[in-house]
Amino acid sequence: MPSDLAPLGWLFPRRRRVPPRIPDTFAYTIRPAVAADLPHVRAIYDHYVTNTVITFDEKPSTLRFWRDKFAALSRAKLPFLVAVSPSGQVLGYALVQPWASKSAYRYTVENSIYLGPSAGGKGLGTALLQALIDASIEAGLREIVAVVSDSGAEGSLALHRKFGFVEVGRMGGVGYKFGRSLGTVYLQKSLPRRSR
Ligand SMILES: CC(C)(COP(=O)(O)OP(=O)(O)OC[C@H]1O[C@@H](n2cnc3c(N)ncnc32)[C@H](O)[C@@H]1OP(=O)(O)O)[C@@H](O)C(=O)NCCC(=O)NCCS
Repeated sequence: MPSDLAPLGWLFPRRRRVPPRIPDTFAYTIRPAVAADLPHVRAIYDHYVTNTVITFDEKPSTLRFWRDKFAALSRAKLPFLVAVSPSGQVLGYALVQPWASKSAYRYTVENSIYLGPSAGGKGLGTALLQALIDASIEAGLREIVAVVSDSGAEGSLALHRKFGFVEVGRMGGVGYKFGRSLGTVYLQKSLPRRSR
């Protein structure tokens, strides 16, 4: 600005240098869980146990519980996936477990998908559930059932419906947590046979 116009500086504000925009990256990879992930998986799950009615567990889980589950799913060759950040932080997990113990149910599983509280709403649930479905098809599974709380689990309902899970039933008042009666919503997805 010419010096004789300096008093009018407010009319000619200096052009501010805008800092380059840092790209809004949310990077992750999805891979099978390993034993070292289990303390992080436990912490993610326990956040929802302690603070929400999304899960009907009321007491925080133990590492023993997760080790046993990991061993059982590994033995049964059932998918247990984690999403990890570039620095190795576990951002979320997804798994399937047997729907029921009687042998004729062997191709039917129940899924479970939980993200760390800061990882939601960015498409990771979509990526993890897609990977879980793909791995379930690869494992030769035929039906996936999602059991969702009828309270506070709108994100889960939306995510499952997006993947073609169809609501097949509801049960009212089967849970009681934090002084409230809670119901469950059952959604089911039939998987295509793997191509071989
Ligand atoms: C459920 C959960 C896995 C979803 O993961 P996410 O990364 O937040 O989901 P995405 O960002 O991929 O969104 C998936 C879809 O659900 C929708 N959605 C997400 N949260 C929503 C909410 N609270 N209400 C309505 N719709 C929602 C999104 O709009 C998106 O739909 P679109 O692709 O058509 O826009 C995650 O929120 C979570 O861990 N929630 C707590 C645990 C939980 O509920 N687990 C399931 C137990 S059965």
